Amino acid sequence: MANIKFFTGENVPLEMHKVRIVQKLNLPTVEERKEAIEKAGFNTFLLQNKDVFMDMLTDSGVNAMSDRQQASMFIADDSYAGSATFTRLEDKVREIFGMKYFLPAHQGRACENILAEVFVKPGNVIPMNFHFTTPKAHITRLGGRVEELVIDEGLKITSDHPFKGNFDTDKLRKLIVEEGADNIPFIRIEAGTNLIGGQPFSLENAREVCAIAKEFCIPTVLDASLLQDNLYFIKTREESCKNMSIKEITEELSSLMDIIYFSARKLGFGRGGGICIRSTENFMKMRELIPLFEGFLTYGGMSVREMEAIVVGLDETMDMDIISQGPIFIKYMSDELQKHGIPVVTPAGGLGCHINAADFVPHIPQTQYPAGALAAALYIAGGIRGMERGTLSEQRNPDGTEQLSSMELVRLALPRRVFTLSQVKYAVDRIVWLYKNRDLIEGLRFVDEPETLRFFIGQLEPVSDWTKKLTKKFREDFGDSL
Ligand SMILES: Cc1ncc(COP(=O)(O)O)c(C=O)c1O
Repeated sequence: MANIKFFTGENVPLEMHKVRIVQKLNLPTVEERKEAIEKAGFNTFLLQNKDVFMDMLTDSGVNAMSDRQQASMFIADDSYAGSATFTRLEDKVREIFGMKYFLPAHQGRACENILAEVFVKPGNVIPMNFHFTTPKAHITRLGGRVEELVIDEGLKITSDHPFKGNFDTDKLRKLIVEEGADNIPFIRIEAGTNLIGGQPFSLENAREVCAIAKEFCIPTVLDASLLQDNLYFIKTREESCKNMSIKEITEELSSLMDIIYFSARKLGFGRGGGICIRSTENFMKMRELIPLFEGFLTYGGMSVREMEAIVVGLDETMDMDIISQGPIFIKYMSDELQKHGIPVVTPAGGLGCHINAADFVPHIPQTQYPAGALAAALYIAGGIRGMERGTLSEQRNPDGTEQLSSMELVRLALPRRVFTLSQVKYAVDRIVWLYKNRDLIEGLRFVDEPETLRFFIGQLEPVSDWTKKLTKKFREDFGDSL
């Protein structure tokens, strides 16, 4: 976004792009929405896209591509082995991250699978600023344990700390001493820390974490899936980086790491993933798993068209005009919600606007999934599909008890370059209505609960007939409006 002041003083996020391809949307009636969420087992992942007006589930694989990306797809070199497209991707990744080796994978969790298979042994501990669902599942599947070492401020919903994704370096040092460096195969550093509201770490904190890792000879692994937002925040919030270009910040950050992996469904505005590796030894350990799990070494499960688009997308990620669009829209939405007293994560981070369900519906116990219930209610209220990021997204403890989440959030993702300001205003309006009627929302319980990553495909039902009451109230308040 350009630094443009409005004469009226109004605070309007201004897009530095124009729309050249559009997709028609459908907004079902509130009665149809109630029926659709029932059919989806009150799980927003299981809704059909045709029933969704604003798809704020995720930014994964649904960011809008640019004209340059679309154009690049025409020159994709379709071959199983030795594709020129792969060479272009490898060169681009080398240019940006400065690492010698690159292994392709079909998406982020595939990289996590490879890393876990190679590095994690039963009893190992993997420190990270905060867990993300898929790496945690791969690590625990292989008998490892995750330790979350984010600074205390990171777990406060409202704060003015600019880098809530920072590691607590004292805790990191203490953990290494207690566990022994030999039991820690790597330290995972997540950019744009997803589950605490898309919160960044600072370059300074990354330097400190990597210095500790080096002291104890522990490899560092950067999850760069949400790097673009983190880069924006480093540039805008870290005084010492104000005069650095995005590319320079990326170069310095990368130089600290041993391994960088990313979901290209997020980073690079495409669909795919990959692992950048500094040492020949680590590359050799991981290399043979790619043909086993992903595909040949020159595509790793990705389509060549997507690889071409990622080459351009990674370049666009180095452009401040482009990467600022997400955070600025998110801040606008969060600020508007706050004006109506709606509890949101602050400061506004990347990825999406995060509503604090624990305060929105404090009457719902965590064992009845307040954030899941709020996400279902928001779909009924506006055809808006968000994602539960709370207890429902956790896995049960081995004894079957609930692992209560430290935060109960509903994430409303703002895929980059997708929504217009009027759509964001519509979402704010429906959330304000829901907040006024929050007492009507009650909890959910599972009727079909998978053991692993239950939030993706599990099915639930409401604990009472609250969805009926909510639908009736909507009709009373909005008349025959959708
Ligand atoms: C921080 C982070 N890491 C890893 C992943 C996994 O990536 P993918 O969805 O491509 O498997 C995601 C996806 O949401 C993510 O946000």
